[in-house]
Amino acid sequence: MRPLKVAVLGCGSVGSQVVRLLTEQAGDLAARVGAPVELAGVAVRRLDAPREVDVPQALLTTDALALARRDDVDVVVEVIGGIEPARSLILAALESGASVVTANKALLAEDGATLFEAAEKAGRDLYYEAAVAGAIPILRPLRESLAGDRVTKVMGIVNGTTNYILDKMDTHGSGFDEALAEAQELGYAEADPTADVEGFDAAAKAAILASLAFHSRVTANDVHREGISDVTAADVASAKAMGSVVKLLAIAELRAVPGGDEAVSARVHPVMIPRSHPLASVREAFNAVFVESEAAGELMFYGRGAGGAPTASAVLGDLVTVARNRIQDTTGAGESAYADRQVLPMGET
Ligand code: HSE
Repeated sequence: MRPLKVAVLGCGSVGSQVVRLLTEQAGDLAARVGAPVELAGVAVRRLDAPREVDVPQALLTTDALALARRDDVDVVVEVIGGIEPARSLILAALESGASVVTANKALLAEDGATLFEAAEKAGRDLYYEAAVAGAIPILRPLRESLAGDRVTKVMGIVNGTTNYILDKMDTHGSGFDEALAEAQELGYAEADPTADVEGFDAAAKAAILASLAFHSRVTANDVHREGISDVTAADVASAKAMGSVVKLLAIAELRAVPGGDEAVSARVHPVMIPRSHPLASVREAFNAVFVESEAAGELMFYGRGAGGAPTASAVLGDLVTVARNRIQDTTGAGESAYADRQVLPMGET
């Protein structure tokens, strides 16, 4: 069997762990896929930058576009993040006949439709389990395992940084600034933590969860967003006194609208939840997603939502699936089967 060739775009904390797992687990991956899986190249910004893993110099390139377009590449893994050049690179890869695995939540939440249409047109896979809640398998259960059920609500802690901050405020009585500084020291929060603390990161993930749970096109702009920067130590202490805890939740649900129809509502904001609720026990930078569906009832998915290795685990899982599909000359679950469901503006209720 001819080897399947994989190009990795980006070699930061996730990309370097993808390269490590691809190299260290080559034997197991070949057995699971049914053909050897070979690293064809790694696109980086600077050839001489320090890296978490050793990549043979011959595999490194600064020309990500040329790598994404290479004829012999079967799967392109995009772990650069952000909107551009990631979008152009993914589109170029699909047009050139490669399948794509990405962890890019911001791009999927802003312009997923363009990517899904390109994948469908090219007859190639586009998988993105790593885009929401890192290592936690949540997108595939929503898209596949629960496809025969009727999901009514998805509610999750999908940002590790803010959960860490709120947890420190709850357990140590810290103020927001002090807890944020601690999260930054531990490397959870970015130097500019706006995307985390103002809820942009969680809103992108809420849009992706809502789209899959309700088979609807939901973008980050449809999600009502409120972050945690105004949550005070006094707010957290009064929640505690009432037997509750403050969590930043991403909530997507179906709402009845006039005319007997149902519409999708998606929002991100701090919520006081009783300590008896399963989401209340999610500590530090962990993530969890709570799903309610008609037949299955309540389900909870829990684990590490960020970090190089946990996110790379989800990328590799997708890689095995799309590689198997390449061998069998098929594609996986399509994204085009949207219900014609109304999406309430900015999570309106
Ligand atoms: N900044 C994100 C978080 C990383 O804290 O959860 C994972 O998307």
